[in-house]
Amino acid sequence: MRAVRFEHFGEPSDVLTVAEVGPPVAPPGHLRLRLALRPINPADLLTIRGRYGSLPPLPATPGREGVGIIVGATGAAGDLKDGDRVVPLDLIGTWQEEVVVEPARVVFVPEAVSDEAAAQSFLNPLSAWAMLDELNPAPGDWLVQSAAASALGKLVIQMSVLRGVRTLNVVRRAEQSAALQRLGADAVVVWPQDGQSLTQFVKKTTGGGLAYALDAVGGELGGEMVNALSTGGTMLLHGSLAHPETMPINSGRFLTRSLTLRGFWLNEWLGRTPLDEQRHTLGTILEHMATGAIRAPEVEATYDLGSVREAVAHAERSRDGKIMLSG
Ligand SMILES: NC(=O)c1ccc[n+]([C@@H]2O[C@H](COP(=O)([O-])OP(=O)(O)OC[C@H]3O[C@@H](n4cnc5c(N)ncnc54)[C@H](OP(=O)(O)O)[C@@H]3O)[C@@H](O)[C@H]2O)c1
Repeated sequence: MRAVRFEHFGEPSDVLTVAEVGPPVAPPGHLRLRLALRPINPADLLTIRGRYGSLPPLPATPGREGVGIIVGATGAAGDLKDGDRVVPLDLIGTWQEEVVVEPARVVFVPEAVSDEAAAQSFLNPLSAWAMLDELNPAPGDWLVQSAAASALGKLVIQMSVLRGVRTLNVVRRAEQSAALQRLGADAVVVWPQDGQSLTQFVKKTTGGGLAYALDAVGGELGGEMVNALSTGGTMLLHGSLAHPETMPINSGRFLTRSLTLRGFWLNEWLGRTPLDEQRHTLGTILEHMATGAIRAPEVEATYDLGSVREAVAHAERSRDGKIMLSG
């Protein structure tokens, strides 16, 4: 079978190869999964470059999520059988044709959910869901988020709609506004914007009451978002897309408003959340996808595993949907 591999950390165009390797052997009580589709996520690119928070031993296969069909159910697989379509829960190494998983670490995919949606139902949806749970805004409250047109940002908008929470969405390209409004965004602002600070826009839009923020960018924008929070406000920082990364925070405002700035990392959430709860959350997300209450972010292009370098180059350009790997 084919597996994408890297033997050293570095630029994806230098280090990624496609190797022919033997199929994985499932120990008793495990399942073999034939994967159909997996997305390219920012975390995968950080891992390949050796810049992610936890790194695999080398050589390694990238990829953290995907969807597949069970091809090797064993006696201990419970209700699962060959031919079932499932999503693995937190599996590293999905950019290959087959993987081995424990039955307790897969979740059944409802028929109404497409492969494109199921393949990206773990990393971003679980993070969005968990972050909203942590902030716990009440119906009617405002939440501001950066990189709002990202896959995760679009999920945050839809999950906020389910909770009755209003979202103020920061993007860097004006043409992304309409799509976000169709998903239920209450306000969209392009930043940076000449002549207007983010704080002024936030004040005008929310009337001054903004207690919740999710930031994927950090840097100058992250600092502006912290500065825009009202008294008692909390921001979860979950990404670091900006260069330079340093966030200019107004220290006086931060302390007098009693603000909180906390990091969020799904790995840490998974480490402290019982497996049953993780499965329940993923199952709930897939049910919302089946009813259409949560629409998975679009797929802009799908490449065969053999064209992984072209796929990664596409994923690193500005785009309007996820890049997928098939095969
Ligand atoms: N902490 C966690 O556990 C966790 C879990 C999941 C995701 N995340 C983070 O969530 C973020 C989004 O992930 P995703 O998979 O949804 O990404 P994605 O769909 O690939 O989209 C990336 C988005 O980031 C925007 N962006 C990139 N660089 C930027 C910059 N310097 N300033 C402002 N915007 C910038 C892009 O804007 P354009 O459209 O203008 O190019 C695009 O909308 C990433 O930072 C990811 O690491 C964190």
